[in-house]
Amino acid sequence: MAFIPEDKLLEIKDAASIEEVVGQYVKLTQKGRNLSGLCPFHSETKPSFTVAPEKGIFHCFGCGVGGNVFSFLMHYHRLSFPEAVQELARRYGIPVSLKDLGPEGARQAKKRTTAYEANAAAAGFYAATLASSEGKPGREYLTKRGLTPEIIRAFQLGYAPDAWDTLARHFQHRGIPLDLAQDVGLLAPRDRGGFYDRFRNRIIFPIFDRQSRVIAFGGRSIGDGEPKYLNSPESLLYSKGRTLYGLPQAAAALRATGVALVVEGYLDLIALQVHGIGNVLATLGTALTREQVRLLKALAEKVVLVYDGDAAGAQAMKRAFPLFAQENLAVRALPLPAGMDPDSYAQAHGAELFRAAWDEAQPWFSYLLEDLIATHGLDIEGRVAVLSELRPFVQALTDPVEQDLWLRNTSERLGVDAAALRKSLTSLAPISAARLDPRTNLAVSLEKAVIRWVLGHPEAITLEELEEWAEEFENLELKGLLDLFIRSYREHGRLDHGLLVQQAAGEIQRQHICALTLEEDESDGPAGDFLAADWRRDLRVKHLKKARARLKARLKNASDDEEVPLQVQWREIDQQLKDLSAL
Ligand code: CTP
Ligand code: MN
Repeated sequence: MAFIPEDKLLEIKDAASIEEVVGQYVKLTQKGRNLSGLCPFHSETKPSFTVAPEKGIFHCFGCGVGGNVFSFLMHYHRLSFPEAVQELARRYGIPVSLKDLGPEGARQAKKRTTAYEANAAAAGFYAATLASSEGKPGREYLTKRGLTPEIIRAFQLGYAPDAWDTLARHFQHRGIPLDLAQDVGLLAPRDRGGFYDRFRNRIIFPIFDRQSRVIAFGGRSIGDGEPKYLNSPESLLYSKGRTLYGLPQAAAALRATGVALVVEGYLDLIALQVHGIGNVLATLGTALTREQVRLLKALAEKVVLVYDGDAAGAQAMKRAFPLFAQENLAVRALPLPAGMDPDSYAQAHGAELFRAAWDEAQPWFSYLLEDLIATHGLDIEGRVAVLSELRPFVQALTDPVEQDLWLRNTSERLGVDAAALRKSLTSLAPISAARLDPRTNLAVSLEKAVIRWVLGHPEAITLEELEEWAEEFENLELKGLLDLFIRSYREHGRLDHGLLVQQAAGEIQRQHICALTLEEDESDGPAGDFLAADWRRDLRVKHLKKARARLKARLKNASDDEEVPLQVQWREIDQQLKDLSAL
């Protein structure tokens, strides 16, 4: 953990309401005193993701992830801890200085800021080059491809000149650290020292994040240069499986339509934009990932895949369907004629097809079924092959009603008995959420119950009581938690869940705190208190008996004047044990 002062953290944490922050990404509904929703960190259909507003923490009983408001942002946006702190402080208007971030946090924050600046400077440089006399080959190419000046500007397209070190020299001149430019993949080191430009004689497509910051670049060769596309490597700013091309440019149209078209290429997306279709995003040269599907889920209600009309495009769409099913995001496929991509289709036929994309598209399951029939045919062997390929897709249909409807549809289309089909395709049911429920694996021990009770009633605990218990705990892991409580209590005069999560000595401890806190909530009520009283009594008895054993040992060797006070103590302990009816 970075060395951000805990008081500062408390200030930010108290200002940022966890239900509000999480609520921006997850639909939460009230459940008792907590809120629950579908976990954004794993796929599920029944909500096991819980937020406890009073305690400032969240926990998922399905996948075990949990923490406070900082951890949530860290997981969700893949931020480092100082970044999450900064982000929340910014949102809630709490001043945080670089000094507050500590040396390491400040260094990281500075590095990222500088990396964004380097990318912005590079995008500016490439765009200026495209507009300059040097950029003529680039401009000619883009015009040939049907791009307008407005579109070139909207996507901040650029041109990397056919030379080895123009960007490197530009950066040197502007004082942008070259090693950082190397880190984000703009420059590469020369064997004999120094740097050369990664992108040369290429059209440059800056890749933006949702906040319109440049996080990477794609470069299309305009000559015979191989490869056709050269892209920025993964970097501290860029992960190609977690973002999509065209986010800021599509934002307004996505909001207006609720439908996202997903295409494969930069130029497919831009061609549709030229034709006035704004709600388009593109993958970045990889198969669609779960993270991208989740990103889409945050941006649109429905998704239409419009991949190239070739075997690779069909294969890529098929691979994506189960992810949509698992993430519960409606998806359809809009197949294009063989050999066409969205770009060439729009040049040839205009964009009408894409304007009504959702209505024109096919439900993914029927697209898949027809594709498999086209591949294998409808003779008996063919139908068997279709069914066996269909199997994982049927199991990806998490909604039983939807699954049932598609099974009926399939049985009709293939002329197979419905009951037999169901049996053959669903016999291996996916692992149910209940079987993954970690609660069933938690050993119920006295010590765990005590921790749970402390977390449920932090206001009812005294520091002395905690310390007394700590002596009795035998399980080291649980004793570690108790020691953490004690330290936190001593330092802050109270127990605060969100802060405990922050002070935890690692991910496992953090998850334990969240899980045990929220389990307490689930098992709440008078019965819980009654049991807790029992557990506390048991611990107290154990403690007293130990103390009595120690006294006994001391009494054996005690001098005369020591004996009396020891006897008094002995009797006191006996009395207490009697009160607890343990004698
Ligand atoms: N891609 C890549 N690296 C390659 C080839 C492709 O990263 N060597 C990615 C790019 O994001 C590209 C997408 O895959 O946009 C689709 O590739 P392709 O269809 O070959 O390119 P288009 O974008 O359609 O470009 P063009 O129309 O110029 O062929
Ligand atoms: Mn293409």
